[in-house]
Order: sequence, then C-alpha cells, then structure tokens
Amino acid sequence: MSAAIEVMRNHRSIRKFTDEAIAPEQLQAIMAAAQSASSSSFLQASSVIRITDSELRRQVMVLCGEQAYVAGAAEFWVFCADFHRHLHWVPHARTGFAEQLLIGAIDTALMGQNAITAAESLGLGGVFIGAVRNQPHRLCELLALPQGVIPLFGLCLGHPAQDPEPKPRLPAALVFMENRYQAEPDEAKMAEYDAQVRRYYQTRTGGNKDMTWTGQIAATLAREARPFMLDFLRQQGFCLR
Ligand SMILES: Cc1cc2nc3c(=O)[nH]c(=O)nc-3n(C[C@H](O)[C@H](O)[C@H](O)COP(=O)(O)O)c2cc1C
Repeated sequence: MSAAIEVMRNHRSIRKFTDEAIAPEQLQAIMAAAQSASSSSFLQASSVIRITDSELRRQVMVLCGEQAYVAGAAEFWVFCADFHRHLHWVPHARTGFAEQLLIGAIDTALMGQNAITAAESLGLGGVFIGAVRNQPHRLCELLALPQGVIPLFGLCLGHPAQDPEPKPRLPAALVFMENRYQAEPDEAKMAEYDAQVRRYYQTRTGGNKDMTWTGQIAATLAREARPFMLDFLRQQGFCLR
C-alpha cells in the first residue's frame, strides 16, 4: 500500500483537539494541497474563509448548532462555491445555471478532501461541518459573502486529542458496480453491514448507542433537509435556470 492510501484508509473524523496551534508551514502545505485539486473547466470556483477572529468563531459556532469543536479547533475554514470573482473579471458572464452549482460544489468538495487528507498525512485531524448551512443567510452576513458565493461546508483542523476507530463503510460490492446499475442490493451483505455498524457504535459509546446503518439513515431521511435551501441558492445567484 502507498503512504497516501494508508492515510486515506485511516481516516476518521476528529472532534476533540488539543490547544496546540498548527505550525504556519503546515498550514501553507495544507492550503497548497487543497488548491492542487482538479477543477472543472479550470474555473477554480471556490474560496475558503479562515476564521481566526475568536468572537467571530464563537458566533459561527452558535450558527453551527453549538458544535463546540467549531470554536475549539485550532483552525476553522469555511469552504464556499464562488462565482463572484468570475463575475468581477467577466461582468457579462452567464451564470446562475444549475450546472454551475454542481461545478462549484464539486470543485470545492475536492479541495476540502485534499485539505483534510493533507492534514491527516501530517498527523493532524479534522471534521467537516455541514452545519454551516443551518442558517446560511446569517452566515453570509457574518462573513460578508457577496452574490455568487455560498457556504458549502466548514472544516475543523487541529492536533487530535482522541483516537477513534475508523467507521466501517458499506461493503465495496454494494458501492462499486460493473457496467450497469444494480438496483437490488444484496440483503445478506446489508444485514452483515448493519451488524458491523451496531458493533462499532456499541464499542465507541461503551454500549450507549444501539444503532444500525439502515436505522440511522431512516431517522435522518425522515427529517426535512434544510427546505429553505433552494430560496437561499437563488438569492445568492445560483440555480436560476
Ligand atoms: C459535508 C459533510 C458535512 C459534515 N457535517 C458534520 C457536522 O456538522 N458535524 C459533525 O460532527 N460531523 C459532520 N460530518 C462528519 C460525518 O459525520 C462523518 O464524516 C461520517 O459520520 C463518517 O465518519 P468518519 O468521518 O469518522 O469516517 C460531516 C461530513 C461531511 C462530508
């Protein structure tokens, strides 16, 4: 196995950090790795806002459902899809296409994954924060995000103060298909996976969490998923056509 694959296979989200700052040369290396990700049509439709002001960080933490690690991690970065700079350089650019939302989201997610993998390769840890989309209008005000920019996810980074086991993923045979979509999943494999996830949560929580994967997704998918999102996207100039 290569060192890069080993880092990726050892990934687990870190939600407890020491107080130690990340060294400036490590930060530069993580940023450079993030920017090295591929980019659709070379549009580079992303911006990252590093929240260094502690009062601003606290306010962002409140918007993110009071997740303490948003305030406590050495670093908190907000990854945004960004067509604002394109509109600056090309005022007559045709934007607002739904396709461009996908481009911005894909480019930015690739950057985020590069960033966390680079950090992990340096012995650091992190967790993505989708909760930056809980109150996106308010976050736009706090971070002065203009038209053409939307916050997609946050990333906490720091020195780990915990060492959780990697979370088991779906059996590869259910995820990787050949030639055609396989609509009927293998029930036995799913049952095995549910049992594996239950064991994982039991061990991780000292027996306090009794949950399978199918149980978890049923609970998640029973809730509305930020129903205000389409209006927000349109207000920021995305998904207009
Ligand atoms: C886009 C995105 C948003 C996420 N948002 C949150 C979040 O707001 N809070 C949190 O604690 N974890 C968040 N996570 C972490 C996931 O819960 C975690 O990746 C998943 O449970 C798998 O666990 P692992 O990363 O340890 O393998 C997010 C992950 C992604 C990719």
